[in-house]
Amino acid sequence: MKEISITTQFKVFDSTQDLPIDIQDLMTQAIEVRKNAYAPYSKFRVGVAIILDNGKVVLGSNQENAAYPSGLCAERVAIFYAGAMYPDAKVLKMAITAASDTNQTTAPIPPCGSCRQSIAEYEIKQETPIEIYFMGEIGSIYKSESLKNLLPFMFDKKFL
Ligand code: THU
Repeated sequence: MKEISITTQFKVFDSTQDLPIDIQDLMTQAIEVRKNAYAPYSKFRVGVAIILDNGKVVLGSNQENAAYPSGLCAERVAIFYAGAMYPDAKVLKMAITAASDTNQTTAPIPPCGSCRQSIAEYEIKQETPIEIYFMGEIGSIYKSESLKNLLPFMFDKKFL
């Protein structure tokens, strides 16, 4: 028997003012679009802004459904929209923010497993890393240089 260990890395920014100016702008758009979340069940609103290599910004918010699994997370709304509208563009950076109507979120809120797997597909397709920044409503922001940091040992097409 042998053991393997996999490490992962994030950068931490104490507040939005510490972010690079282009990311401050992207996060501001994510915060704005968070208001459009349709979240009557969870009261948990997620906003996402993505910048593509063609300069376009694509936005997304979570969209819920009375049949709960039929809803979709903000990250997938945004990245699927990017794929649908600009299939040849590369996704450069993604800003994510999540806020609850019932309590203030202060910790960075990472994308769920299904969103990580979905983002991974686009990162592998485009063969360049996607920078991911995520935060709660207030507080620090985590930066992942690539989706790989959020999903080590991922399943992808090479296993098929
Ligand atoms: N949600 C997202 O939009 N992104 C995530 O990565 C995690 C969860 C949404 C789904 C649901 O509408 C609400 O947040 C509560 O889970």
